[in-house]
Amino acid sequence: MFRWKRWAAILAAPLLAVGLSACGQTQSAGGSPANAGGGSAGGDIQSLTIKISHVVAEDTPKHQGALAMKDTIEKESGGKIKVQVYPNSQLFGDKDEYQNLVANNVQFIIPDMAKLVGNDPGFNIPSMPFLFDSDEAAEAFWDGPKGQEIFKHLEKDGVLGLAMWPNGPKSITNNVRPIKSPEDMKGLKFRTQGGQVLEKVYSTLGAGSVSIPFDELYTALQQGTVDGEENTFSNIESKKFYEVQKYMTITNHTRVDYVLLTNTKFWNSLNDATKKIVMDGVKAGTQVARQKAAELNASALDKIKATGKMQIYTLTPEDVQKWRDALKPVYDEWTSKIGADVIQDAMSHNKKG
Ligand code: LMR
Repeated sequence: MFRWKRWAAILAAPLLAVGLSACGQTQSAGGSPANAGGGSAGGDIQSLTIKISHVVAEDTPKHQGALAMKDTIEKESGGKIKVQVYPNSQLFGDKDEYQNLVANNVQFIIPDMAKLVGNDPGFNIPSMPFLFDSDEAAEAFWDGPKGQEIFKHLEKDGVLGLAMWPNGPKSITNNVRPIKSPEDMKGLKFRTQGGQVLEKVYSTLGAGSVSIPFDELYTALQQGTVDGEENTFSNIESKKFYEVQKYMTITNHTRVDYVLLTNTKFWNSLNDATKKIVMDGVKAGTQVARQKAAELNASALDKIKATGKMQIYTLTPEDVQKWRDALKPVYDEWTSKIGADVIQDAMSHNKKG
């Protein structure tokens, strides 16, 4: 369950700041000022074009959430606000989406947190092995005070973290051999979404790793630049990685979780009436992404199986224990870097506590 009270609280500061000068706002994200008629509290709905950019395909929780944002904002604004959604790194990719958000060339991006670890070590949380036991536990952590504090560390860049959107647990694919035990990882080279904890995960297992942008990953796998990668079923299926990877091990050892980001330049340019609509869009998008994540991953796994192209192994509970033991050095090194209190809080949301 998404905790809207907390969400509303984090947005309260910029909202208040805007409220003070609401009627004078004229600069739109990509459109023209709108001043005619109306009289709604906090000014008339501004005419805007909002761009949402992301790197994944359409059949994914992130894109479905972005479409729900578009739908809500366009409907509630009576068409005054147009929302353009760019999937598949069409507008910006992993390498340049954050800078373009800061520059307000795009108003929303939804990166995998593993790509933000250079901004704050807390974004390594989804990469800590077997940390969360469900999407709901991850959502509860990011909705809570420790998670929200990590989002706040982006404010120095003029970036606001509005909500966590889940994708789900990751599995390991590769093109060399079936992987069951941690020892099977030795000597293989994997692509990761980012460095730091993910790099430590692979070095601990005796494997190499390199971070490669998502839109270059299919080619990197096809050409053998790397032997494998880790991802969610919806990403593996929608990007057809099964065409270039023979083996998949369902490990659930790390996660893909996103943060919906906007920039303060855009946010502070909105009057109250416009901001309320955009916030409604954010809520709708978050609900849809959260509702659909598990379902889309389950159907993607069925589709991968139906291709018959991958040999799939699911870790047994005994296997999982071996992987947990093998990956303990990740906790030894990173618990203090992220904060023992933060890790403890994250774990407290699991069913077993
Ligand atoms: C990846 O790069 O593998 C993922 O982070 C892509 C995404 O945004 O889900």
